Amino acid sequence: MYMTEAFAPGKCILFGEHAVVFGHPAVAVAIDQGVTVNVSKSSNWTRDGLPFAPEKHPHISHLINELYNYEGPPLDITTSSNLFSTAGLGSSAALSNAFGAALSYHINSIDEVDRIKLAKLAHSAEAYAQKGRASPTDTATSSLGGCVVVSGQHVPGTKHIFDAELLTPEGLREWSINIVELPLSIRESWLVLGFTGEGSPTSTMVAKVAKLLKERPEKIEEMNAISNITKAGLTALSAGNLEALGIAMNACHERLISLEVSTQELDDLVLASRPYSYGAKMTGAGGGGCMVALAKDPKRVAQAIEVAGGKPLISRLGSNGVRIINK
Ligand code: PMV
Repeated sequence: MYMTEAFAPGKCILFGEHAVVFGHPAVAVAIDQGVTVNVSKSSNWTRDGLPFAPEKHPHISHLINELYNYEGPPLDITTSSNLFSTAGLGSSAALSNAFGAALSYHINSIDEVDRIKLAKLAHSAEAYAQKGRASPTDTATSSLGGCVVVSGQHVPGTKHIFDAELLTPEGLREWSINIVELPLSIRESWLVLGFTGEGSPTSTMVAKVAKLLKERPEKIEEMNAISNITKAGLTALSAGNLEALGIAMNACHERLISLEVSTQELDDLVLASRPYSYGAKMTGAGGGGCMVALAKDPKRVAQAIEVAGGKPLISRLGSNGVRIINK
């Protein structure tokens, strides 16, 4: 039977979470795990064997109806994921990218995925599903792959790829999407992610930081410090300096603790992984979700995370972006 299968990776933020909301740069890498979507012609619309309910799948229905204006025959859509969901690993962005790639091949049979177009469409699908508020970090990293730097303006030492904008309930927001070529020593090293088992509520945590800054304006210093750490981390990434990268990750974690977005569970997993790592920090919004370690010994880090009560995932740094895997 005629079918198309696409895969899109999840992501992990190495530096700059929360500071990016204030226009500072954030650095994310694509990870090996992600979402696979299979699309084939059918007599009825289905998702994973059940009748397709558009209101339950806003990313997919927005891509079908508004972004691709698809009017062809009904589709069987099957999805599978080896990401933890609501863990800050970008599973909804990976779903949007993988589905967008599969649908676009299904319509046009063009082998080469237009990654920039897809990143923009997937960002739009995320915004639709999240009441008009979405950062382009997850969708751009999942689409482009490798290492992506998102910022209010161009970041020196990075290559500009495209600009993104979104009209949010708070007004127009604009971002510059850039990439960094990772040297072999970085691409051959290992990250271990540790999931606390608790969801990572991004909008709640962003609101919590805004409240903290209102009550304690001096905390804005933490944002400037994170921005400097991010720049040092980028230099270490580009130079393939694992020791310096780990030091920057540890320093970033301290600043996120000071912003009150880490939790006891995240701190426990970070501390458990450090003896076998170059560095470790919470990743993403915090309040739950995941931590990430740049591992010297990935198996030992994964064991230490499990013993400390977390669920580990081992990945290379900067996996490839969205791709068609079967047609
Ligand atoms: O946990 P995540 O992957 O949703 O990361 C959120 C990152 C923030 O900087 C906290 C929010 C944002 O929109 O960039």
